[in-house]
Amino acid sequence: MTTRARVMVVEDDRIVARDISEQLGRIGHSVIGVTARGEAAVELAISNRPDLVLMDIRLEGDIDGIDAARQIRARCQIPVVFLTAYADDETVRRASQAEPFGYLLKPFEDLQLRTVIEMALYKDRADRKLRESTAALQVAQAELARMSRITTMGQLTASIAHEVNQPLMAVVMNAEACVQWLKGEKANVGEARAAAERAIAEGHRAGAIIQRVRAIARNAPVVSEPLDFNEMIEGVLLIVQPELSRQEIALDVDLQPDQPSIVGDRVQLQQVMLNLVSNAADAINSSKNQQRRVTVVSAMDPLGEVCVTVEDAGVGIDPDHLDMIFNPFFTTKRDGIGMGLSI
Ligand SMILES: Nc1ncnc2c1ncn2[C@@H]1O[C@H](COP(=O)(O)OP(=O)(O)OP(=O)(O)O)[C@@H](O)[C@H]1O
Ligand SMILES: [Mg+2]
Repeated sequence: MTTRARVMVVEDDRIVARDISEQLGRIGHSVIGVTARGEAAVELAISNRPDLVLMDIRLEGDIDGIDAARQIRARCQIPVVFLTAYADDETVRRASQAEPFGYLLKPFEDLQLRTVIEMALYKDRADRKLRESTAALQVAQAELARMSRITTMGQLTASIAHEVNQPLMAVVMNAEACVQWLKGEKANVGEARAAAERAIAEGHRAGAIIQRVRAIARNAPVVSEPLDFNEMIEGVLLIVQPELSRQEIALDVDLQPDQPSIVGDRVQLQQVMLNLVSNAADAINSSKNQQRRVTVVSAMDPLGEVCVTVEDAGVGIDPDHLDMIFNPFFTTKRDGIGMGLSI
C-alpha cells in the first residue's frame, strides 16, 4: 500500500525537477513545492511542512543540499532523501552526517523512487513514535525521581522540624528579651535593638532551612547550570546532619577547596548525595560495628574530574547483589523503594 505523501523537490536543473515531479505524480504522491536553492528549501520546508523532501546535493545559492538537509532536520524534523548524480566518498560521508532517510543515484526508475520514499516515510513514523515514547518516559522518570526525593525527605521530617524549631525558639526568646529591655524608666534601647537584630537573624536562619528543603522537594524542570560542587554537597549535609546526630552517627567531612565549578542540575545531584548518605546511615544501623561514622570526601581525581566519596563501615554490599543495586526497585530494606541508586 502506498501512502500518498506531500513531497517537496529541491533540484537546480529545471528539466530534472520537472521529470521528478512527473514521476512523483505517477507513483501517487503530490508535489507541494519545487525550488533550486538551499536557503529557499529550508524556508519552504518550515512554512509548508511537507511529509518528505527530495534533495539534490549540488544546488544554486550559498548552501548545498547537505547543509540545507541538516537545517531542515534540526528545525522541523522532516525526513530528507538525497538525490545526486555524483557519489564520491567525501560527499557520501558528509551526506550521512545529515542523517538522510535515503539516497538515490540519478537517473532512477519509478520503482526505485517509490521504494525509497516508502522506506523513508516508514522510518520517519517509527522515529516519531520513539520520540513520543522517550518524552513520556522522561516525564515518568522525573516524577518517579521526585516521589523518591519526597519519600527520603519524609524520613527526615522529624529532624527538619527540629532544625526549624530551634531558630524559631530563639526568635521568641530574643523578642521577649527586647520587650524586657524596653520596659520601665531605664529602658535600654541599645540592648533592645541587639535582641531584635538577633531575632531577625534567627528568623532568616529558619527561612533558609525551609528554602533548602523546598528546593529539593520541588518539581522543578531539570536545569543544567554551573555549580559549586562543594556547596551542592554542603547543602545536603546541612539537611541530613541533624538526622545523623539523632541516630548517633558522626559525620566527617573533608571537601577539597578551590575545585572547578561543574555543570549539572543541583536538585538531581543533591538527590544522589542525599541517597548515598541515607544508604550509609541505613548500612550503619543494620550493622553491629561500633564505628558509627559516615565520611564524605570531595577531591579531584587524577583525570581532573571532581569526585565525591561517601564511606561507611556498615553491613557492606553482598557480592551477589553488586550487579543489581543500580536496578530500579532493587532493595534489601523492609521500607526501601530501591530507587535511590537507579536514579
Ligand atoms: N552503603 C551501603 N551499604 C550497604 N548496602 C548498600 C549501600 N548502599 C546501597 N546498598 C544496597 O543497594 C540497595 C539499593 O540502594 P538504593 O539506594 O537504590 O535503594 P534503597 O536505599 O534500598 O531504597 P531508596 O529508594 O529508599 O533509596 C540497597 O537496598 C542496599 O541493599
Ligand atoms: Mg537508598
